[in-house]
Amino acid sequence: MKATIAVLPGDGIGPEVTRAAVEVLRAVARKDGGYQFSFVEHPIGGAAIDACGEPLPAQTLAACRSADAVLLGAVGGPKWSDPDAKVRPEQGLLALRAALGVYANLRPVRVHPRLASLSPLKNDKLHHVDMLFLRELTGGAYFGAKTRSADDASDECRYSVAEIERVARRAFALARLRRKHVTHVDKANVLETSRLWRSTVARVAQEFPDVTLEHQLVDSMAMLLLTRPSAYDVIVTENLFGDILTDEAAALAGSLGLLPSASLGDGKAGLYEPIHGSAPDIAGQGLANPLGAILSAALLLRHSLELEYAATDIEYAVDRVIERGVLTPDLGGDANTAEVTAAVIDLLGTGECRVAA
Ligand code: NAD
Ligand code: IPM
Ligand code: MN
Repeated sequence: MKATIAVLPGDGIGPEVTRAAVEVLRAVARKDGGYQFSFVEHPIGGAAIDACGEPLPAQTLAACRSADAVLLGAVGGPKWSDPDAKVRPEQGLLALRAALGVYANLRPVRVHPRLASLSPLKNDKLHHVDMLFLRELTGGAYFGAKTRSADDASDECRYSVAEIERVARRAFALARLRRKHVTHVDKANVLETSRLWRSTVARVAQEFPDVTLEHQLVDSMAMLLLTRPSAYDVIVTENLFGDILTDEAAALAGSLGLLPSASLGDGKAGLYEPIHGSAPDIAGQGLANPLGAILSAALLLRHSLELEYAATDIEYAVDRVIERGVLTPDLGGDANTAEVTAAVIDLLGTGECRVAA
């Protein structure tokens, strides 16, 4: 099995966690002689602005389009954050998501029992937390028309039925493989776009009579995520709500540094990135938690390369590393990025029992 993976390290801790994920993928290939991964690295975000004046250079995009999958670190940072700047690192990431057509952003959230004590919530609320966010990724306020004058600004939020249908179908199809429950999150008491979401999702639900659907307003959802997180299975929502709620959900898991994501369109190619940002406060110090990026590499193997066994192997190794307490400081440990990565690699291939079960 041969695959080309485009690697976009980006800014801040992006290169540190991306290096960790690539090392794990190389180790997977080494341990199983049947896989041949080739990695092509390209700039994006602030690094690309510095190198060529634009956040998504044509060469980077071309490499991503021709790759089997894209692995990305993070973009952005104080150097490029002037509110009056004409070009921003984040524009590169948004343009890439749009160009690849990856409208469905999967963000799984699980709570490892060993980390439950790190959460600000009572331990007993965290038992059996296992949810999957489906965040719409290429529409809404992120991509609507923008205006700005000296004393006025606007961001248009617009959704079409087709955009809602395709991500909703994906949510129901994924729920079928899980606990068959979908929570759709909106602000239908105020927003017209939310009312279109609500009726469209309800219509799509009829194609999946074995899956239960509930609607939840986003403000109360922000509270419910903390008070009864184990009640949720698949959560589908628009772009901006999904961005905010998933960072909140990361607090349940113990750290923003733990959560992976897969962004998928209609084909097999996908974009894989941890949900965290460039973490300028800890960049360059070896303190970054690489597990979100490493788990994103596992999602890459599962969704783009159909290597389910190898994906589960990485996830199993990550679980064991957490159990053994090899943790970066964000999780209360004193291991560095390289030590956590090495511990994951060490445990690859030891999970046969679980995979076979
Ligand atoms: P952030 O996610 O970078 O950091 C928030 C907090 O979480 C910080 O205290 C940071 O140290 C910590 N953190 C994040 N990832 C961590 C990890 N892997 N290990 C340990 N600690 C970690 O969010 P921010 O500070 O609001 O944003 C910084 C920059 O990142 C901004 O420019 C923003 O636009 C960008 N950003 C990029 C992405 C992306 O590229 N996908 C995502 C979010 C934010
Ligand atoms: C994320 C990030 C991005 C987003 C930013 C950097 C554009 O916060 O991937 O969650 O808002 O989508
Ligand atoms: Mn975000």
